Amino acid sequence: MREAGYEIAVFPGDGTGPEVIREGEKILGALGEGGPSPWHLTNYRGGGQYYLASGREWDPEGEAAARSADAVVVGAVGWPGALLPNGDIAGRALVLGLREGLDLYANVRPCRLYPGVRHRVSGTYSEVWSPRNVDLVIVRENTEGLYTPARGRLRRADETEVAIDTRVITRKGAERVIRYAFEIARRRSTGAPEDGHKRLTCVDKSNVLEGCRFFRETFDRVAQEYPDVERDYAYVDAFTQWLVRNPERFDVVVATNMMGDIITDLAAVLQGGMGFAAGGNIGNEHAMFEPVHGSAPKYAGKNQVNPFATFFAVEQMLRWLGDRHQDARLLAQADRLDRAAAEVLGSGTARTYDQGGTTTTSEAGDRVAAAIRAGAR
Ligand code: IPM
Ligand code: MN
Repeated sequence: MREAGYEIAVFPGDGTGPEVIREGEKILGALGEGGPSPWHLTNYRGGGQYYLASGREWDPEGEAAARSADAVVVGAVGWPGALLPNGDIAGRALVLGLREGLDLYANVRPCRLYPGVRHRVSGTYSEVWSPRNVDLVIVRENTEGLYTPARGRLRRADETEVAIDTRVITRKGAERVIRYAFEIARRRSTGAPEDGHKRLTCVDKSNVLEGCRFFRETFDRVAQEYPDVERDYAYVDAFTQWLVRNPERFDVVVATNMMGDIITDLAAVLQGGMGFAAGGNIGNEHAMFEPVHGSAPKYAGKNQVNPFATFFAVEQMLRWLGDRHQDARLLAQADRLDRAAAEVLGSGTARTYDQGGTTTTSEAGDRVAAAIRAGAR
């Protein structure tokens, strides 16, 4: 427990990032009322728009703060035309850069359909996609795989002849993310919606790829430490079908980096769309939390986008800080936030445009803040 309060470095970033972050700050403000604040937020500049204006991806103070803070929150990065000289998106330092630089090896993306939220598979609820059937966590490896900077081009006389991306799977990288996923499965009280079993599904392509075979071997080895968690396996192609057809079968899922990137966007459809998808990028010493949806330049400045992904990112941050510092206050605040969000969503009266409604970003924030204030502590 940190009496003086937790330092949180916030990077609102590009496009709609600042709009959703403002609502996240509103929610933290409501949670912190009535006593000394358990956290201090400091905003820093960074991202593609900042790069166009300043020639830097983030301000140097922000870079240092990200390392020294107790937790980092990023809104979104990416802006049309904002590219680094090598062609990478300007602002990558805040997302890919922090994952690498702070060794945030587990990308934890919970996928839960709250009552009152419409999944995005079709316009109506179905048996399969009812809220009680969608409650899983995908853990994506976050520091290697196809994202390892072992790539390049062979150019001859200004023509690209060959482009190569190398997929790197290491013992250390596989083992730690798999163990992290087993720990989540062990601690999650509910298990899979289908049968309540604690289950970890290893998603890979081990029928073809050597790295995946190694990943699965590592999974089997680590699994011996977790006899209380059922082992489950899925080839990634088949998994995409099962996830959509039978989401209730899944409890916790672990995957390599690129496969995890793809399947988490698919899973977001089951939880109402990217407007609800939050991720925690977690290492042993640091963590960064973000809504996964990106900067959505088309909607920037319109006060229209869905801020719930940011609320769930904040909730995840409070739980991580609470666990790490054995601070029951923060865990209680995370529960309060979740109850308030569930209540507002369940009422069906605060739907932003992506849910077919007209509620604005700031109104959605006001509603959740009001529900926090009205709710029991
Ligand atoms: C994500 C995003 C990032 C990724 C992009 C913005 C580099 O798609 O967080 O899933 O590929 O990891
Ligand atoms: Mn992605």
